[in-house]
Amino acid sequence: MSGPRRAGRPFYEFFAGGGMARLGLGEGWTCALANEWDAAKAQAYRARFGAAPELRVGDVADLAPADLPGRATLAWASFPCQDLSLAGARRGLAGARSGTFFSFWRLIEGAAVQGRAPAVIALENVVGALTSHDGRDFEALVALLSGQGYRVGALVIDAVRFLPQSRPRLFVIAVRDRGAIEGLTAAAPDPLWTTPALARAEEALPDALRRRWVWWRLPAPPPRNTDLAAILEPDPAVSAWHRPEQTARLIDLMGPASRARLDAMQAAGARRAATLYRRTRPDGHGGKIQRAELRCDGIAGCLRTPAGGSSRQTVVIVEGERVRSRLLTGGEAARLMGVPDDYPIPKSATAAQHLFGDGVAVPVVRWLAQHLLEPLADAAPLPVAAE
Ligand SMILES: C[S@@+](CC[C@H](N)C(=O)[O-])C[C@H]1O[C@@H](n2cnc3c(N)ncnc32)[C@H](O)[C@@H]1O
Repeated sequence: MSGPRRAGRPFYEFFAGGGMARLGLGEGWTCALANEWDAAKAQAYRARFGAAPELRVGDVADLAPADLPGRATLAWASFPCQDLSLAGARRGLAGARSGTFFSFWRLIEGAAVQGRAPAVIALENVVGALTSHDGRDFEALVALLSGQGYRVGALVIDAVRFLPQSRPRLFVIAVRDRGAIEGLTAAAPDPLWTTPALARAEEALPDALRRRWVWWRLPAPPPRNTDLAAILEPDPAVSAWHRPEQTARLIDLMGPASRARLDAMQAAGARRAATLYRRTRPDGHGGKIQRAELRCDGIAGCLRTPAGGSSRQTVVIVEGERVRSRLLTGGEAARLMGVPDDYPIPKSATAAQHLFGDGVAVPVVRWLAQHLLEPLADAAPLPVAAE
């Protein structure tokens, strides 16, 4: 489906973090500009990509269109999700963090005025972006892209199709309305990549935007061939195991469902690996209770950036009656994101979780690039002239 690989399609990487979008795009792309304001992430970016003069460390709001070199085939923007996340207060695009989208967008508009609009734009965010403000945030994104002459479609891709991590994310892919994209679109949404929330969000768009909408065609990946156990460090390599009383405390925090899962693992006798998050849940009496929620389907829960110490994922190893626990290591977090082994992992596990916890899963980007972004870029061999 992909055309011949053309080395060096130029792209801009906004909200670059540790460069996981760049890793996923791979050899066929050249980063013309990366932007990230977090010093630790910028350091990780440089540790992987060298001096990286293309990396501009600072607030995206401080960039001007003139800072965008040349004409990019693709602008990738994994903009902050906190205000769109179902777990947050949901200030949406009006929020200080997710609202940085508009700083990015102002640059795209500025480039468009100069006839340098990227051929393709990829936005990545949490699936909460579909429903925040009753869908008005999503509509605003589609309206802005469409108003700039882009055809717009979206897919929900769960990293679990590629990696042992549950990580559904929304990918909005927009292409300037010039190229022959028919072979890359489908008449109807593919259930593989279209959750009910995405279908509802598209249905709720005004007719004028629905007419600009496309359902992207993306093949199914081969079945995943790794599970949680495969990405874990060997036991002796981990020094920071919890003390038995800490593990016992976690077991005490389990509700009936998690406890039943643990019992079943213990009864199975063989060595099993599971993950656990501590979460605050309603106690059914108007209050809150802390729960330890165990997941034992061979898949890790969604990596998050650690906040308040409670959201780092715990690994639980069960061998018959013996239960041990420890926090997920930085290397394990990297592998859960599909980051290649040669990526320099920060020494501190907390720093590593910060780096990888809000990243984009590398094989998801690769799959999208190979089967959609590269064919789109080749079908619409822009940069386009000003309209
Ligand atoms: C969702 S993460 C994207 C991470 C990246 N895609 C990766 O895979 O590593 C959003 C990133 O945007 C950065 N960021 C947030 N606000 C910013 C701003 N105003 N200017 C530049 N970067 C910002 C954060 O530090 C964070 O690294």
